[in-house]
Amino acid sequence: MDKTFYITTPIYYVNAEPHLGHAYTTIVADVAARFHRLLGVPARMQTGTDEHGDKIAQAAAKEGIEPQAYADRISGLFRQTWPALGIQPDNFIRTTDPGHVKVVRSILQKVFDAGDIYFAKYGGNYCVGCERFLTDHELVDGKCPDHGVPPVYQEEENYFFKMTGYTEALKKHLQEHPDFIRPERYRNEVLAILEQGLEDLCISRPKSRLTWGIEMPFDENFVTYVWFDALINYITGLGWPDGELFQKFWAGPGASPQHLIAKDILKPHGIYWPTMLMALARAEGREPDYYLYDHLNVHGYWQVGEGKMSKSLGNVVRPLELKDKYGVDAFRYFLMREMTFGLDSAFSEDLMVERYNADLANDIGNLFSRVLNMLHRYRDGIVPQPCPEAAQGWQGENIEAEPHKGHIFSSAAHQHMASFETAAAYKASLEGFAFSQALAWVWDLIDAANKFVVRREPWALAKEPDKARELDHALYLLCQRLADIAVLIWPFMPETAQAMAHTLGLGDIVPGMAQRILDSQDLLPAGARTAKPKALFPRVETDKVQAKAAKKEAKADQAPPEAGKPQKAKPAKKAAPAGPAPEIAIDEFARIDLKLGRVLEAERIQGADKLLKLLIDLGEDQPRQVVAGIAQHYAPEEIRGRQVVVVANLKPVSLRGVESRGMVLACVDGGAVRVVSPDMEMKPGSKVR
Ligand code: MSP
Repeated sequence: MDKTFYITTPIYYVNAEPHLGHAYTTIVADVAARFHRLLGVPARMQTGTDEHGDKIAQAAAKEGIEPQAYADRISGLFRQTWPALGIQPDNFIRTTDPGHVKVVRSILQKVFDAGDIYFAKYGGNYCVGCERFLTDHELVDGKCPDHGVPPVYQEEENYFFKMTGYTEALKKHLQEHPDFIRPERYRNEVLAILEQGLEDLCISRPKSRLTWGIEMPFDENFVTYVWFDALINYITGLGWPDGELFQKFWAGPGASPQHLIAKDILKPHGIYWPTMLMALARAEGREPDYYLYDHLNVHGYWQVGEGKMSKSLGNVVRPLELKDKYGVDAFRYFLMREMTFGLDSAFSEDLMVERYNADLANDIGNLFSRVLNMLHRYRDGIVPQPCPEAAQGWQGENIEAEPHKGHIFSSAAHQHMASFETAAAYKASLEGFAFSQALAWVWDLIDAANKFVVRREPWALAKEPDKARELDHALYLLCQRLADIAVLIWPFMPETAQAMAHTLGLGDIVPGMAQRILDSQDLLPAGARTAKPKALFPRVETDKVQAKAAKKEAKADQAPPEAGKPQKAKPAKKAAPAGPAPEIAIDEFARIDLKLGRVLEAERIQGADKLLKLLIDLGEDQPRQVVAGIAQHYAPEEIRGRQVVVVANLKPVSLRGVESRGMVLACVDGGAVRVVSPDMEMKPGSKVR
């Protein structure tokens, strides 16, 4: 019973060219498939285009061409875009493929023969943008909430799918499989829709109104409703009903078929599709859940500027333009790191540049070139023999208090710990679709390795002949860490990972390689010959970046760092020691409302390594939410319950999308940061003067 993994993206409508939103979903699917391959699990990824229906017919008519010619053109754009973004779909499906048309007709016939499709008259509010009838519950001020236009009332005779007959079976499945739809908020949304009650689904369009669709097998006067047609792509692409691929990736015992969508198309995927699959199973005399997928993974929306991306607002973000500017891997990294899976995220190019310089140019880029340059300078580029005995003096050294960082390199006996423990955390995150968190784990390794270089000072060891073995060991460990990092970033940044692996003499990154890290094996043999490193991510110097750096330096000369404000991810230069601050009068000081508070709750903020979100009791009606830049100095459980001093009248700000209403005071001594507290318990809300 070999495990397999199958992941699909929505098949995209061909009425728009590929944009950031399409690119995100398709990159996520590619990352998930690559991650499974890295573990040695056979994986298949499918994407494609959705080409029938009103919307496409209208778009083609607008251009004055036949729908098929129009669909061919836009579908081609999607097909070409994916490899340019480092995405390798195993199958690209089109709903106009004859094989797909055949399967749709065969499924319709089966369900019809089993009595789950009937003919009736229906009137309802149809939204062309959504290509479906909307219920009264779904309308907001009489308009479609997604397209902002009132739906059109339509009344006609059509074929209906008895979706209502499967409401209870679907509810039961959702109850028995709590992660059938994930994250949970979307499962709850589907449950709420089921609670409101379903209606049967209209699944045909009379040809008198629309001809651009798959003809119904049992009535030539009708074409199939576009969603009933499109959803079936997920199994046509595997050769349903009896293709080998269908067994391997969908119906077989080790198969784990999964879909990936954004929240906009939750209802068709969370309700129409599973009920269609149950009807198909019933028609074939199988158990209701025989055909059901394993998981529906739902992500949020990328917002641009004030809201949605749209052609009319002129804010459509084109993935290929960003890729040309920053490189494909930087683009992929940003999307995967910045969005917490399931939640909306704001896209901004400035933020992308910031992350590029901090995480890629500084953190990983510097580590890579620094370690390899030292290896070439001190050991002719050859990975030395490990020498744990030489590292005895490092025993017990704790670089950081946090787990996963705690014992990295701290003792020879534990030299693997950080990598394999981190790889286990990374694996768990990726299995749960927490992509940003998985990257945060890898960045923990990178951070720890950078700190190790600073602490062990290989350049100093190189000056002392009796420290040669210690230097060997340090360089050996650093090379292993670079190899681990190359492998772990491969799903996200395949080009960079391969470039690192080749420079390190590791060869190609191959299926199953992550398992070796989990098994705590060293990837690079001593004696491996490395190449001279090339810059992985040359810094991006935009005018904005330079202006910001200049402003920051000026500021660093005037004011001490504050605990409530996040410091930029990695300052390029050390801040100059603060000079004496200018004198102020007592009334100026009195304008600052300092209060004593107690931290009630503390948690990390996904995607912000340095920030903690605190709920602080300031003796007010409601506790205050304050974001503090102390995550690298305090674990949430350490700060919970502590008394802290808060600047209570600071203007609220939003940090990484989280509102902060105040600032926690802390003392900063070099790298150490400690919050300011009274030396005995006092009442929350007490004035601090
Ligand atoms: N054709 C249907 C899907 C049929 S699947 C059987 C469709 N197509 S679409 O072109 O509108 O694509 C919608 C999908 O594109 C979303 O579910 C999401 O995957 C992606 N995105 C489009 N805009 C997006 C954002 N702004 N942000 C994130 N992803 C979004 O619906």
